Amino acid sequence: MSAAFDFESRFAKGLPVPQPKWTGFPKYNFIGGHNDPESIPVEGLIEATARVLRRRGQTIATYNQDCGPLGDIEMREFLAERLAKYRGMSATTEDILVTSGSGQALDLINDILLESGDTVIMEEFTYQGAMNRLRARGVNVLGAKLDDGGIDVAALEAQLDALSAKGVVPKFVYTIPTVQNPTSSVLSVERRAALLKITRDRGVPVIEDECYADLLWDGEWPASMLAMEGSDHVIHVGSFSKYLAPALRLGYAVAPWAVLAQMIACKGGGTGALGQMVVADFLKNNYEQHVDDLKVRLKAKSDALVEALEENFGTSAEFGVPGGGIYLWIKFPPEVDTLKLADKALEAGIAYNPGPQWSVDGEAARNHLRICFANPSIEEIREGVAKLADVFHAETGIPPRSANVSRS
Ligand SMILES: Cc1ncc(COP(=O)(O)O)c(C=O)c1O
Repeated sequence: MSAAFDFESRFAKGLPVPQPKWTGFPKYNFIGGHNDPESIPVEGLIEATARVLRRRGQTIATYNQDCGPLGDIEMREFLAERLAKYRGMSATTEDILVTSGSGQALDLINDILLESGDTVIMEEFTYQGAMNRLRARGVNVLGAKLDDGGIDVAALEAQLDALSAKGVVPKFVYTIPTVQNPTSSVLSVERRAALLKITRDRGVPVIEDECYADLLWDGEWPASMLAMEGSDHVIHVGSFSKYLAPALRLGYAVAPWAVLAQMIACKGGGTGALGQMVVADFLKNNYEQHVDDLKVRLKAKSDALVEALEENFGTSAEFGVPGGGIYLWIKFPPEVDTLKLADKALEAGIAYNPGPQWSVDGEAARNHLRICFANPSIEEIREGVAKLADVFHAETGIPPRSANVSRS
């Protein structure tokens, strides 16, 4: 459609940069938080759709079906059960608000808690979407120090005290404690307890974003912070994007009624009922099997990526091997500027997320990048990493073509 009418001059002030036109996915698609196409349970979803429409199809005749603005009742029943079993929570269906993706839950939390000029603390490397949302509101974003175990709680305590000395109380601390994005760290139970205590003592709410918590390969799962003692100041956020499918646009928030009531007032409409009904029906019977299968596939991809990086980059790529999730956060020598190299990589068909975009202080992560290994096939991972090494070598001399980099 041609833009004969000048809408642009009438646009509101302060809008984000307009989206570029969609030009398709690159051949080696390592960006975003997409899922594994082979893991989408298409047949199961078809059966669930037919079953649930026969059983409850008439409920879509009214806004919010027959169960009010918190979301489909079977969806909330499924969530309450899963959160109790796997995250240790004792949330009821009345404590859960279903949202159109967890991104909407974050928007609503920001709507009810933030004003321009407020301060928020988030992990120094963090989910770009959450950071951009805050900056778009004129919020002062500060980074909390991370190490291999997640937030360095002692450093956070000192940071909070230093802010307090200047009369600043952050509006909240936003954290991704279980399989952090992008570093994949998992915060220990001890650190969770300490984080809860220092924030609670200082009257600072915690937004706990657990959208990857279903995707730990194995071992003990630390409970959600909202399941722990002294967690009245926590709002919990989760998603179906990472363990089922992002295009479904389904997420949720768990919080006391006073918080949910205000979020609903800002939400201005329900989340599509059909998706909720189908997903709840499917997952009620298939959650364990589905997630177990997905984890096997993701772990195989993670292993292939680690192997390909070691083979093609040798010691030039430093990373922790992920214990779950869909990302690998990689550090290169300082002369590798991943932001500058992204265009060259794209010319070779490789898309990755440059470190500065995932960093509160963009400069600190110029030599980092994030790879999402969920979407490409194992072959694409192998080929894509080899090609990426070629691009980086041609542009920077890194990785060197020496004995410690064996290229077949
Ligand atoms: C930590 C984190 N939170 C929230 C989201 C948003 O997910 P969605 O809106 O698809 O639920 C993402 C997406 O990548 C994420 O990484």
